[in-house]
Amino acid sequence: MKVGNQNYRTIWVKRGNNKIIQIIDQRTLPHTFIIEALSTVQDVVRAIKDMHVRGAGLIGAAAGYGMYLATIEATAMESFDEYMAKAAKQLYNSRPTAVNLEWAINKQLSTINQQKTPKEKINAAFLGANEIADQDAIACRNIGEHGLYLIRKLEKEKKGKTINILTHCNAGWLAFVDYGSATAPIYAAFDKGIDIHVWVDETRPRNQGARLTAWELAQHGVPHTVITDNTGGHLMQQGLVDMVITGTDRTTYTGDVANKIGTYLKALAAKDNNIPFYVALPSSSFDWNIHDGIKDIPIELRDQDEVKYIAGLCDGKIKKVLLTPVESKAANYAFDVTPARLVTALITERGICAASESGIRSLFPEILKE
Ligand code: MRU
Repeated sequence: MKVGNQNYRTIWVKRGNNKIIQIIDQRTLPHTFIIEALSTVQDVVRAIKDMHVRGAGLIGAAAGYGMYLATIEATAMESFDEYMAKAAKQLYNSRPTAVNLEWAINKQLSTINQQKTPKEKINAAFLGANEIADQDAIACRNIGEHGLYLIRKLEKEKKGKTINILTHCNAGWLAFVDYGSATAPIYAAFDKGIDIHVWVDETRPRNQGARLTAWELAQHGVPHTVITDNTGGHLMQQGLVDMVITGTDRTTYTGDVANKIGTYLKALAAKDNNIPFYVALPSSSFDWNIHDGIKDIPIELRDQDEVKYIAGLCDGKIKKVLLTPVESKAANYAFDVTPARLVTALITERGICAASESGIRSLFPEILKE
C-alpha cells in the first residue's frame, strides 16, 4: 500500500543484502515513519514482543523471517537443530494470542527439516519466509475481492448513499504484509469508486485504531472518522453504521473469534441493532485444534503501564503522560473472544462462509475433515 507516493509492504528483505530484514517500526506511527533493520533472531523476537511489528499476519511473516535468520546463526553453533529448536521456542513465546506465529514457525521448521546441509536449510528458510509473506499479501488481496461483494450488495440497498463501516483496532495492511484483512474490502470498494466512510475505534490502550488504521486510511485517501471505543453502540442505534468488519488474531474451527479487546462489545451492539458483523481473516489465522474459543484461546495480559499512561505528540516530540492516580492498579487484557453466534459471516481468501464448523469446512474441506 502507499505511504506518500511510494508503495510499501510492512516487511521485506533489504535490497542487496539478504541477511537484513526491514520493517516499518509501528511504535512511532502516525507521527514518524521509521524503517528498522533486523539482522538476528533476537531482533525479531524483540520486535514482536515490543510491538515494532504487530497484527496476526505480520507477526506470522516476521516469525518466518526470524526462523530464516536463525538458520544463518545456527551454522556457527555446535548443534544446528538444538539452536533452531531454541530459536523457535523464543519466537513462539514472544506473543501468545495470534495463531499465525505458531503456524509460521511450524511451517518453517518443517521446510528446514526436509533439507540436508546447512546451506540448503538456509536457502529453504529464506524461500519459505518469502513465501509466507507473499501468501499473506495474496490472501488479503483475495479477502478484499470477496468482501467487496458484500459492500456492493449494501451499495444497491442504500441506492448510492454513503456506506458507513465500523472497524476496531488495526486489521489493516500494517497488521499484515499488505492490504490488511478488515481493510482489504474497504480499499477495494474505495478504489472502485464506491462512496464509503469508515468509523475507526480508537482502541485503547495502545490506540491501534487512532494511530494506525486512521494513518493508513488517510494515506490512501479513504474518508474516515476516529471515535472513542464507547461510541459505536450509539452510532448503531442512530442508523449510522451499515456494517462492522474486524480482523482476528485466532479463530476456532467452530467460528469463535479472538480479537483486540472490545471487539465482543461491538458484536453485541451490532446484534442488538441488526447490523451485520463480519470478521475477515486469512486461513493462517484459524486454529484448527481449538473448538471453544472462550475456554481455550490464550489471552495476552500486557503491562499495566499501557493503560495507566498515554503517549502522543506534544511540541513536536512524543510524550508519555500518566492518566491515573499513581497508586491505582490497572489490568490490561489485550484480547477478547466473540462467540460464533454473534458473527454474521467470515470473509476468507477462499470466500465467505458462516462462522460455524460446517461453514468453515465448506471452504476448507481438506483441512477440516468430517
Ligand atoms: O495487539 P495487536 O496490535 O497485535 O493486536 C492485533 C490486532 O491488530 C487486532 O486484534 C486485529 O484486529 C487483528 S490482527 C489482524
